[in-house]
Amino acid sequence: MSLQRLTSQVTVALAVATWLFSAGPVLAQSRPSLQDRFATCLACHGEGGRSTQPLIPSLAGQPSFYAITQLFLFREGRRDNEAMTAVAKGMTDDELRGFSELIGQLPPPPRPVASVVDAQRMARGAELAQQHRCVSCHGADFAGGKQVARLAHQREDYLVQTLNAFRAGKRIGYTQAMNEALAGVSAEDVQNLAHYLANVPSAKAQ
Ligand code: HEC
Ligand code: HEC
Repeated sequence: MSLQRLTSQVTVALAVATWLFSAGPVLAQSRPSLQDRFATCLACHGEGGRSTQPLIPSLAGQPSFYAITQLFLFREGRRDNEAMTAVAKGMTDDELRGFSELIGQLPPPPRPVASVVDAQRMARGAELAQQHRCVSCHGADFAGGKQVARLAHQREDYLVQTLNAFRAGKRIGYTQAMNEALAGVSAEDVQNLAHYLANVPSAKAQ
């Protein structure tokens, strides 16, 4: 295991522990405000909801309705992820709503500056997004809306992982929309789509 990977796993473990502690019954009397508890979310999801950690999605710019559907799926055990299941398990409906509203207020992330952009893969990604009608639900600028996720400038590694999970039927959405949208998209084209969406030039930054 590389040091980088180990460090990131330790960071994640610490964040889970902090979360569980702050949500524990011992602190019921002096329970920190939702806003304060949101800081433990951002320990994983990055400052301002802009993730710097492999396979942890940015939350910035996600519509609050999308966020609440996903928190609901995690809470009910219908979207499978160890860290997020632990986080969402004990949440009340009011907490789901509160966190989702806070997420909805985070300004969207800009196009990543450090990323090396491959013109050929960008062109292929743009073509695929038209061909498979990704734009018809996610919007021409991929900003999402309502229950549909924002995709623009999401982490590329996370996009690859989650698209493959939809393709394999391992991530079950709120509806079948995504499982159907990816039917017939090859593993290589998933990589091209992710590269394009992570770096898409036309999206509104902030
Ligand atoms: C230990 C790290 C960790 C902590 C703490 C954490 N998350 Fe997450 N979160 C993740 C990971 C990893 C995923 C991606 C799960 C997957 O791949 O399915 C995720 C996914 C999500 C998603 C879905 C994002 C998307 O684009 O689909 C939402 C919403 C979310 N988290 C909200 C929260 C909130 C709110 C909190 C605090 C109450 C929180 N998270 C705390 C690691 C964490
Ligand atoms: C019919 C509408 C529709 C179409 C077409 C569609 N999507 Fe989606 N997409 C959704 C919805 C709704 C969600 C939220 C998933 C859920 O229901 O849990 C989503 C979620 C996603 C996610 C997860 C985002 C996250 O943060 O975890 C990705 C990535 C994605 N779509 C990419 C695509 C791509 C790429 C295409 C084209 C190949 C596409 N979508 C086509 C409706 C659509």
